[in-house]
Amino acid sequence: KPAFFQVAIDGPASAGKSTIAKILASQLHFVYVDTGAMYRTVTVAAKKAGLSYEDEAGITALLPKITIEFKPGNPVQRVFLNGEEVTEAIRSTEVTNNVSLVSSYAAVRTDMVDKQRAMTESNPVIMDGRDIGTTVLPNAQVKIFLVASVDERAERRYKENKEKGMAVDLETLKKEIEERDYKDSHRAISPLTKAKDAIEVDTTGIGIDDVVAKIKTIIEEHQA
Ligand code: CDP
Ligand code: CDP
Repeated sequence: KPAFFQVAIDGPASAGKSTIAKILASQLHFVYVDTGAMYRTVTVAAKKAGLSYEDEAGITALLPKITIEFKPGNPVQRVFLNGEEVTEAIRSTEVTNNVSLVSSYAAVRTDMVDKQRAMTESNPVIMDGRDIGTTVLPNAQVKIFLVASVDERAERRYKENKEKGMAVDLETLKKEIEERDYKDSHRAISPLTKAKDAIEVDTTGIGIDDVVAKIKTIIEEHQA
């Protein structure tokens, strides 16, 4: 078992992974690692470099020139690409709709997985993503697979976008989420799948506080 406690949270888009992971990390004093933000940052780096998202060779060559840093922030963790803040840029619709392609490239995955593992060496972590329990932290003490119906996940994204003043209709959001889930579950390298030893938690119709409480209990059982 890892020297420092590891919690892996995987699941499809908008299941509540980052919301739940962030709250638990602050309650338990674990470091929170948002791996989706890392793949989104690589996607932004490709755009800034003037590369097409289809250009796997170009994006592969770009990787050694990319540094990604997280800094604490409220309400969201701040993200920096080569020292430049990209906290908002990584959430754009363009990035959201191209990140699954960029994250399907072998070199991108190898590089991100190395960086993610390095973040677990000197502190307990809660890491969320798609392949954490299966690939990044296969020996994690706790693995959660968070799910919710696609209708509810689209509804959540819709509310979130509305609060940010972004106008996208519910049907479009639902289609985008389904497309991204499909790509993430069907790619060749470490697709989104539930690890054999992961505990599935369905959050359909369940509020954030109740989900947090449920997973906290699971973690505490494993810490004992
Ligand atoms: O928050 P949301 O569910 O929209 O997605 P995210 O966690 O920010 O991840 C964005 C995208 O990055 C996913 O749709 C995947 O294509 C990719 N990703 C991945 O391939 N592996 C991970 N461990 C995390 C994210
Ligand atoms: O990280 P992931 O894409 O899995 O989802 P998220 O960004 O944490 O959550 C998407 C939205 O759903 C956020 O606006 C959360 O506040 C909301 N949410 C919810 O309404 N109920 C839950 N049980 C979990 C999340």
